[in-house]
Amino acid sequence: MIDLFDKHRPILERLSRVGPDDVNPVGVTNERMLSPTRAIINGRETILAGTNNYMGITFDPDCIAAGEEAMAKFGTGTTGSRVANGTYSLHTALETELAHFLNRRHCIVFTTGYQANLGMMSGLAGPRDTIFLDADSHSSIYDGCTLSGAKLVRFRHNDATDLDKRLARSEGEEGGKLVVLEGIYSMLGDRAPLADFVEVKKKRGFQLLADEAHSFGVLGPHGRGLADEAGLEDEVDFVVGTFSKSVGAIGGFGAGNHPMFEVLRYAMRPYMFTASSSPASIATSLAAVKKLAAEPWRRDRLRENSTRLFNGFKGLGLDMGCDAVSPVIAVKCPDEASTIRMWNALLAAGVYVNIALPPGTPNKLCLLRCSVSAAHSNEEIDRIIELFGQVVAAHHGKKAVNA
Ligand SMILES: Cc1ncc(COP(=O)(O)O)c(C=O)c1O
Repeated sequence: MIDLFDKHRPILERLSRVGPDDVNPVGVTNERMLSPTRAIINGRETILAGTNNYMGITFDPDCIAAGEEAMAKFGTGTTGSRVANGTYSLHTALETELAHFLNRRHCIVFTTGYQANLGMMSGLAGPRDTIFLDADSHSSIYDGCTLSGAKLVRFRHNDATDLDKRLARSEGEEGGKLVVLEGIYSMLGDRAPLADFVEVKKKRGFQLLADEAHSFGVLGPHGRGLADEAGLEDEVDFVVGTFSKSVGAIGGFGAGNHPMFEVLRYAMRPYMFTASSSPASIATSLAAVKKLAAEPWRRDRLRENSTRLFNGFKGLGLDMGCDAVSPVIAVKCPDEASTIRMWNALLAAGVYVNIALPPGTPNKLCLLRCSVSAAHSNEEIDRIIELFGQVVAAHHGKKAVNA
C-alpha cells in the first residue's frame, strides 16, 4: 500500500532544516494582540510589520461596536449559504455600500477573498474559454482557473507585450477571453502597468479582471485601487477584493457593471456551496468600508509610513522587491537558510515580518516581506529600520543584502 502521506515527506524534510533554537517561521502564534501594530509573541511585546493591516482598522471602536451589535442582534453565525438561509440584511447592506464605494452597478460578497477569486474566475470562465494569467498571480487566482476548467495561458509578469503575443496566437479560437491582473502584487509590492494592458485590450478585445486585494482602500483618489489611481476604471470589467487587509475583517467581493452580473450568484460554486460570512464580520466590514470612504487621511498616513520605511531601507542599501513605494516592501535575501536566520533574529529583536520562500515567490526569491500600516507610529517605523540594519549587518557585515 502506498501511504497517502508519502508525498508530503519533502515538507517535513524542509521544516527539519529550521535550527533547534529557531522559531518555525510558519508556526508563529500571537498570544495576545495589543493593538494593530503590537502583539505578544513568545512572551514578548513585538512590533508587527507583516500583517496586511494596511489601515490599522482592526481595533477601531466603531468597527468593534458594529461587530458586537450585529452578533447580539443576528447571532454568532448564519449557518447557511447565501442562496439558502445565509443572506441577512447585513450582507445586502454591505453589497450596496461596496457597489456605491466602488462606483459599480453590482457587487457580490463572499466568505473569504480566496473564495471571491475562486467564484469569480469559475463563474466567468468555463471549459470553452481561455484565462490569461500574469505568471505571478496569487494562488487563489490559479485555483480559480483550475476550478473553471478554462484553458490557462500564463504571460510574463507585468509584460503587456508578452500578453499581446499570446493573444495573437489564440486569435480565432472559440470561447471568451478573460485577462487577470493584480493591483499591487503581494510578494514584491509592484503594481500592474495597467495603461499598457489597456492598450492591448483595445487592440485585441477581451474582458479584464483586476484583483485589488492589496490595493483596495489603499490606492487612488477614492481608495478604490490601482484602476482608480490610474484613472482607468472604465477599462476594468471586474474587480475582486478582500476584507482581510485594508478592511481588517474577513470576506471578499466581486464587482462589475455587466448587465448579467447577478446571474453569477447561481453559477459560482464557492458562493453557493459554503456558509455566508458571520454577522459580526459583515457588520465590521460595513463599518470599515464607510470609514475608507469618509477618512481619506488613513490613505495619506499609510503613504507617509510606506515612504518612510522604503527610504529607510534604501538608506541601508537593502535590495528591495521593487522601485515604487507601496505598503508591501520586500527585502531580497541570498538563500533560504540565511532568510530563516535573519527572520529569527528580527523576531528575537522584537519585530515580526513575513518570510516568503519558493515555491510561493516569484523567480524563486527568498524574501523578508514587510507590510506597512497607517497605524504604525514614526517611532515604530524607525525601529523596524534600525533592527533591519542591525540584523543585516550581523549576517552580512556592513554591506547590503545583495541577492
Ligand atoms: C492577491 C490576493 N488575492 C486574494 C487573496 C485572498 O484573500 P483572503 O486572505 O481574504 O482569502 C489574497 C490573500 O493574501 C491575495 O494576496
